[in-house]
Amino acid sequence: MVPLGLPVLLATGCNSNQAITNPATQPAREINTLWWAMLAGAMVVFAVVVALLVIAFVRRGRPGEPSHDDRGPYKVIIGGGLAAPMVVLAILFGFVIHVMPATSAPPGPTKLTVDVIGHQWFWEVRYPGTPAVTANEIHIPSGTAVDVRVTTVDVIHSFWVPRLNRTIDAIPGRVNAIELNADTPARYRGQCDEFCGLQHAHMAFYVDADPPSVFRRWLAREAKPATAKPPHAFVAAGCDSCHAIRGTDASAHVGPDLTHVASRTTLAALAIPNDRQHMRDWIVDAQRIKPGAQMPSFELPPGQVDSIVSYLERLK
Ligand code: CUA
Repeated sequence: MVPLGLPVLLATGCNSNQAITNPATQPAREINTLWWAMLAGAMVVFAVVVALLVIAFVRRGRPGEPSHDDRGPYKVIIGGGLAAPMVVLAILFGFVIHVMPATSAPPGPTKLTVDVIGHQWFWEVRYPGTPAVTANEIHIPSGTAVDVRVTTVDVIHSFWVPRLNRTIDAIPGRVNAIELNADTPARYRGQCDEFCGLQHAHMAFYVDADPPSVFRRWLAREAKPATAKPPHAFVAAGCDSCHAIRGTDASAHVGPDLTHVASRTTLAALAIPNDRQHMRDWIVDAQRIKPGAQMPSFELPPGQVDSIVSYLERLK
């Protein structure tokens, strides 16, 4: 039976920061227990089926031999095909019913609400009551119940941080909520969990659970407008027709808000790291890095790219 579970363990072990078997909250621990119970249930059923196959093979009749018992096949169908599955599925269903309330969003308001909006293909993140808008790197205070309200501006996506809680669908015209309550400060990886087009796999995100005081400082900084106006190259290339930089004339919301883009560690929903070279690559050749993304590849003179990149690097 070991070989059956082994590939699963190896697969989840490859990125343990995105594994339900490495839970970091109470709901995630309940889901982890459910996962192991389901695996154990499946292995017991598989073992019984294999055992029956072996018994049937050993006791098979020779050609021309009369059958031992004509009612045998019916007993197997009613017992093994109806009664046993009903019992096994009822037990596992009972387990699911027990775990579901533990993973649901809290009925009332929590200390902090975060709005997450799915886009093809990145996550817009807003903090109601503040002007702060960011993308793909969601900061929350650790040890605090956070109500995450999830929706989308285009197709259905699904918000999933396996170490923190179950998945929740982002559905057009609807707001679904999930509670995130990270015990310890850490960076948790999340991923869109509903096929949403060409770059579905490049729709990842981080949840950064910071100590509450660190989180408050981060939010205060993120809420501030940009301190510098964009250079001529930024406007001439049309960057402002898709991106917002608060405190400047750029106020579009097709792509991520860039007001504090330099404070993020990744670009393009975790597709590439956020450093000078990758920012250059992203501007001149986004379609090679992330084909199908709304960000076009810009054929600009190197001087203009430098001017834009230098400006964006100052947006801390
Ligand atoms: Cu968004 Cu898959």
